Formats: sequence, structure tokens, C-alpha cells
Amino acid sequence: MCNSKLRYTFLVLALCVSGGLSLTAPVVFGAGGPLAPAGLRCEYLKDPVGIDVRQPRFAWVLRHAARAQRQSAYQVLVAARRSAIEENQGDQWDSGKVTSDNSTQVAYGGKPLASGRTYYWKIRYWDKDGSTSAYSQPAQFEMGLLGREEWKAQWIGGNRLLRKETNLTGRVVRARAYVTALGYYELRINGAKVGANVLDPAWTTYPKRVLYSTYDVTAQLKQGANALGVMLGGGWATLAGKPSTYPFPPYYSSPALLLQVNIELEGGKKVTVVSDPSWKTTGGPIVSDSVYDGEVYDSRLEIPGWDQPGFDASRWDPAKVVEGSNGILSAQMMPPIQVVDAFPPLAVTNPAPGVYVYDFGQNFSGWVQLRVKGPRGSEVKLRFSELVYDTGMINRENIRAAKSRDIYILRGEGTEVYEPRFTYHGFRYVEVTGYPGTPSLDSLRGKVVHTAVESTGKFETSKQILNQIQHNIRWGQATNLHSVPTDCDQRDERQGWMGDAQVTAEEAMLNFDMAAFYTNFVRNIHDIQGDDGTVTDTVPHRYGSRPADPAWGTAYPLLCWYMYQQYGDKRILEENYEGLKKYIEFLRSKAQDNVLRYSYYGDWVSIEPTPGALVSDFYYYYDVDLLAKIADVLGNPADSATYSQLAVQIKDAFNHEFLNTRTGNYATGSQTANTLPLFLEMVPKDQRGQVGGNLFYDLVYAHDSHVTTGFIGVKYLFPVLTRRGLSDLAYDIATQTTFPSYGYMVANGATTLWELWQKRAGPSMNSHNHPMFGSIGAWFYQALAGINVEPEGVGYQRIRIAPQVVRDLTSVNGKIETVRGAVSSSWTHSPDTITLDVEIPVNSSAKIVIPKDTEMTEVTVREGNNIVWGKDRFVPGTPGVTAAEAQKNGSIQFEVGSGRYSFRLTGE
Ligand code: BGC
Repeated sequence: MCNSKLRYTFLVLALCVSGGLSLTAPVVFGAGGPLAPAGLRCEYLKDPVGIDVRQPRFAWVLRHAARAQRQSAYQVLVAARRSAIEENQGDQWDSGKVTSDNSTQVAYGGKPLASGRTYYWKIRYWDKDGSTSAYSQPAQFEMGLLGREEWKAQWIGGNRLLRKETNLTGRVVRARAYVTALGYYELRINGAKVGANVLDPAWTTYPKRVLYSTYDVTAQLKQGANALGVMLGGGWATLAGKPSTYPFPPYYSSPALLLQVNIELEGGKKVTVVSDPSWKTTGGPIVSDSVYDGEVYDSRLEIPGWDQPGFDASRWDPAKVVEGSNGILSAQMMPPIQVVDAFPPLAVTNPAPGVYVYDFGQNFSGWVQLRVKGPRGSEVKLRFSELVYDTGMINRENIRAAKSRDIYILRGEGTEVYEPRFTYHGFRYVEVTGYPGTPSLDSLRGKVVHTAVESTGKFETSKQILNQIQHNIRWGQATNLHSVPTDCDQRDERQGWMGDAQVTAEEAMLNFDMAAFYTNFVRNIHDIQGDDGTVTDTVPHRYGSRPADPAWGTAYPLLCWYMYQQYGDKRILEENYEGLKKYIEFLRSKAQDNVLRYSYYGDWVSIEPTPGALVSDFYYYYDVDLLAKIADVLGNPADSATYSQLAVQIKDAFNHEFLNTRTGNYATGSQTANTLPLFLEMVPKDQRGQVGGNLFYDLVYAHDSHVTTGFIGVKYLFPVLTRRGLSDLAYDIATQTTFPSYGYMVANGATTLWELWQKRAGPSMNSHNHPMFGSIGAWFYQALAGINVEPEGVGYQRIRIAPQVVRDLTSVNGKIETVRGAVSSSWTHSPDTITLDVEIPVNSSAKIVIPKDTEMTEVTVREGNNIVWGKDRFVPGTPGVTAAEAQKNGSIQFEVGSGRYSFRLTGE
């Protein structure tokens, strides 16, 4: 029975039932028909509200019933009215039939898009044989406020609560609130919170740029009296109860609000409500709040009805106009921070009288919701920690100066439910004191809070330890996305350290949809860049130095490059080209004889040292080489030639400076020192074997297959081993459970990754949720599942699936939702048989490399029921499988078009 046919029939049926297919347009069913595109995105976002890119880019995912299909042409329609798009009229833009295989990064090319307007769009495509799909379901996007002059609002400050009443004389047909703050805000209309964002807006270099969010508030406003209420939070402004100035201030000392609500009433009348001195302000139940310190909330100070119309605020003070920010106001175009999950604690203990310690079983960022009943004025204190002492009491030594606690004071009326608004903690344990009576498991509920990026990757294996490491990587990564990628989420730091960001970026992009997030972060880097080209160790810049350590500053070119590789984003290269060039020219100005030596951190937190200069110089080469490649992509052959030549000079100087040609070791011969030049193929050809051999010797014999690198070296170690045909060794290292290893953390109870290979729990630097070692996650997808982007087809247009079948691993299941659709690779290995199921999206093609056991002599490969390889040669005739050849190492490489394939290799 042909199971693929069955599957497609099912797919078509399922789509019809779920409404995924438009039933009005003619749809070609049966074999060979192109299905309506799905997964429509605008600027990487689904139906975004409030964007300010004037030529937004579109992307869609193609579907087709047959294999080996692609798009030969597309047509995009954009309309200003929903009814127009429903009738297939693109009154804003009708691209016409465009002969192109681009299904991502397609820039809008119609009439100018108007501020504040909603647009509707759809797309259809022609497959390779010229058959047309139905139009997709319509999607939409809405422009933000495009001109500074459209902002009539003034920055205001005051106490924690701000309010304003407004009377609307007609029915509201459309209303949008544009809001931002220095610090955090919560917007409320007529008694209810607006939207699901928390800890908004995203953190930026406020004097340069502030991001506003756009909310559709049509349904919340009504004819007659309306109340707007805003609660303001201090955000990053205080630490340990004092203004947080270390070493740089957060660019504001007290919170401020900028808000504008544009309202259209029936009959066309327009009303605008803005923040200005007519607003009233007073204190409220939040007594103090800080990202680091937590919140003190006295519910006795709540002011019932303050955010409702008709409230008497005559005793409130007028709000003050404050300086706020003179920076650019940009639309916040990335997923907001949200409460993304909630779960109950696993256990509660009572290690001392009146002290209750809750264990959530998972280290995460967020807060807890408290349920409590008791006398008025009782004070419940919640203190957060990652660790507990043997006594069962919480251990907070590693969170340093952060107070990381929430205090709730009861009003004494029935069951009270509290959760904080303007803070987040990194924790697994919560200590509760002051609870009236005995708290139960139901008294607390964990709330996971971070930037709500979509999960796009799945990786599972037959090896439990790898699955747990993957779990730790994902939790550590996600819970360190707080509008910037942070180093940690618990102590008095939580900064956008660039070194951590660059080593984890690939892993993050494979596990989550990071496109909009990194687009924003790269702009933050661009914003922080000095006229001299320098960038900073952290972005926004609060910790560390300017200029950044080169291994940190490299986040600028590397993130741009990864955006191009993973998402096919050329615009980010264009927009940053001058910035990147300036940055590289700065590095060049610091280099002597083509060697860049300055370094602060080098291979940070390594076990064996590597000279910082070697690490810096490696990145100097990397950055210059990337710039040459970027110049090439952007069609600038002159720059490409200049920087390629410079790269060669740097490589020669690097080898001259660090390579001992007698021993075949770089510098100290540490794992990192030998790995880095191998990774970028900087090693002179005649020395590669020796350098590789030294690395092998150091790993296997000197360290019994354990790492001694820091977080820089480990990023490159695994791919270097795989490239050298040593995936078995890489796997041994990855699955170790003794010190130092990932498994050692797991064996010691880690549920996220640690900052150090060592197990520490004292006051020294030892965060237990630090994503930076998580770079190995990229190797899981790229080597064990074997899913790779080919350089000639960025954004997964050209794919290479080359799984590493290693040691006792019997199965791997990898899947990535790419910009072009799902790519998956699942294999099983049993004696004599390797099966490999893959999925290649429409409009992509792939090389599929099926390894064979070394003992196997004669192999046969089937795809479904057809033989595609036998007697040492390709057997043609199977749809989608166009070629095959044996590789030097015995594996067999197939060339396939889009579709799902089930390969089965058997041998004797
Ligand atoms: C951070 C690191 C960071 C490092 C730079 C630490 O405090 O937590 O992750 O990269 O400083 O030295």
C-alpha cells in the first residue's frame, strides 16, 4: 500500500475539515495539485498590529500534494478593505504574476502604506508545472504611527497610578492605543487590563530609541464616560533598594509614560486622548517594585474603581510633564513578554517553624501567584532561590545583591489572589514566611514569564541524558529572553551580554522562532554603536566595556549572518552593512601586524586557559571573512576583494603568532586553542592532521573524553569533531555524566544549564540558569538529526540532511519549522538497518546522506517500497528522488525534491 498517497489524501481532508482551504476558490485536488499557501507572515509576525516598516516583507509556506514541487511564480494581493481582499482585489498592491521562487522576504511594492491603517493580504502561487493554487486565507497587518508629528502625547511622570477620563460622544468604530514607558506600564481601560503583554515595553537604549506597543482597544471603549488608568513600574531603575547605577545607569531614574489613543467614532469624528498634564496621579498598592528586588504590594492601599469612569480623583495630584526620551519612537515588532505557562509546585516542606519551602521542580523565570486568606495587615513574604541547603532552607548566596522577593500585605477580605506586575525572578524554590495558617500546594502557582517566542524545534533521542540536556537548553534559553537575550535571570545582573548571545544564537534559532527578536536585538546593537565603530559588551550598555571584547562584539556580524543563513534575511545585511564595516575597521585599527590582541574575557569560564589574544584574533579573522562574504551577497565585489585579502593576511599572521609548527599546537595547545582555527579552516593544510591529532589526543587521552573549554571553545568543538569524522567522540563528550560535562550538571539535579562546569553554590559567580553553554544544541540538530542549511540556498531553500549515527544511539527525531515550512529528519538504527524519514518543504530541495555501518559491505536502500540504491548504483524511477552517489566514507547521498520520504537502508 502506498502510504504516502494515503497521507496526502488525509492531509487534504484534514485541511478541508479545519477550514484551512478556501472552498470558494477552485482547488485542484488529487495528485499533483498545489494547495493554498499557509503560515502567512509579515515582517516575521503573524497578523502584526503596529509595524513601522514602510515596505514590509511577506512570507508564506507552500503546500503541494506531489513531491519535488516548487513555486515558479506568485501573486500577492494587498487591500485596504477586507471586502476587497475577499473578492481577490489588491487595491493597494497587486503584484501580478511574478516569476520567482521567492516565498520569503518578498517586499511590499504597492502604494504607500498609511499610518495606523489595517491592510489585508493573500497570496497564490504557480507550481513548477504552471498549475495555480487557490488563494490563501487572508492575513492582515496594521501600520503603527509612522511620523513623529503624529504623536501628540507628552511624556508624563507622577506616582504609581495615573488616570484620565474621557467622554466619547458617539459609538466607537475603531480605537488604537499606542503606549510606551521608561520602566514598565500596565494600561487599563474601564477597569480591565489591555492586552496580554507584561513587563512592556522592551528594553532599549532609551535615549536613542523607545519602542511602543499598539493595542486594538475598540471593544474596550464605549460611548459616554471612559476611564484610562496606567500603573507605572520602575523596571531596571533600582537594585538592592537603591538607584541602580552599576556601572552605568539605566538612562532614567523614575518611570515615565507616553500614551496616545486614536479613536474613530461613528459618523467619522476623530478623537485623540493623550498623556499630558491633565492626567491625575497618586500612589497605590504597589509600595515598591524593581526587576531585581521584587515587589511590595499593600492591598490595603488599593483604590477601588480608580480605573473606572465616575471615580472622584479630585484629591489626586496633576501629572508632571517630564523629559522622557527624545529618542526615536519605533514600533515594537517582536513577540511581547507574556505569562507563557503556569504550573503547580511539586512539593512543599516546612524546614523551620513558620518557614515553608516550595519546590517547582524546574528552574525558570517569572513569578508565583499567591492565594491566601487571613487577617488584615498580615504580611506574606516570598523569597526566591535556585538552590536549597541540606537543611531544606533556601540558599540565595548566588543571587548577590538582588533582593528577589515579593511581599504581599493582606486586606483581610476572603481569599486574596496576588501576583506581581513589575518584576521577575529566576528560581526553582520559593520560601514563604508570614503566611497566616498553613499554606498548601494550592497556595502557590508558578507563572513562567519571558518573551513569548514560538517554539519551532523538536529534538528527541533514544538517549535519556541527551533529552534532559536538550530540556535544560530549551528552558535556559527561553527563560533568558526578556526582550533582550540575557545571561541569567536571577541575580543582580540579567544583562544582554553579547558573548553569550552570539554563542547561543544558532541553538536559539533552531529551537525557537527568533527572527523578529534578533531583528530587534541587532538594531539595539546598531543603536549602541559609537562613531568610532565600537560596540559594547552588553546591549543595552550597562555592564562591561566599550569597546567590547572582540568575542563579545562579534555578536554584531554573527547575528546578522545567522539571520541570513536561517531566515534568508538579506535586508538585515543591507541595513547593517555600513555599521559592520565600521566595526571591522575599528578592529583593524586596534590590530598590530594583522594580529588583534586585546581581550578581557577570552574563553570565559574555561577549565584550562587559552590566551585571550588567540580568541580575539580568531574572531577578528571570522568577522573580516564574514564581511567579505556579506559584501559578496550584497553585490559589492570591491569590498569583498578588499576584505578577503585582509582575511588572508590575518590568517597568516594568526598562524605565525600562535601556531607552533613543530608540535602542531596553537598557543598552549588547549582544546579551545586548537579547535578555533580548525573550525574556520585556518590551519595550514600540511598541519591539519597534526593539530587535529593533538586535539583528539587531548580529549581522549589527557581528559578521558571531557571538555576543558570555556563557553567560546565548546561552541566550535562539536562541529569540528563531526567534520573530522569523529562524531562518536563528540557523542561520548556530550553524554558524559562526570565532571566536567553537561551530564554532570544533570546528574546534580540541574533543570537548566549552569554558568560553570563546576558545581558551586556559594556567593561566587555561579548562576544555575545561564544559557551560554547551550550552543551544543545546534550540534544536536545539525549533526545528530543532521539538518543543515546549504550555503547556496540560505533560509532552507537548499537543505542537507546528514545524520550522524553514533555509538549506542538507536533513534533521533529532529524537526524544525523553518521559514519555508517543516524540515524533519528522524532515524532509527538497528543491526543491519537504518531508517530515515525526512520532510522537505515545497520550494526546497535537499541532499540526503544516509550513513552505513562500517561492517556493511553490500547495501540496499529503499524509499517506501521502491529500491533506490542497489548493487552499488542509483536505481531511478522513484518520484522525487533524482540522483544518488556513494560517498568516500561509504554513505550514500541522494538528491531529492520536496516531500516526505521514508528511506530504509539494509546491508549484509
Ligand atoms: C556574565 C557572563 C558574561 C561575562 C563576561 C558574566 O558576569 O554572566 O555570562 O559573558 O560576565 O565576562
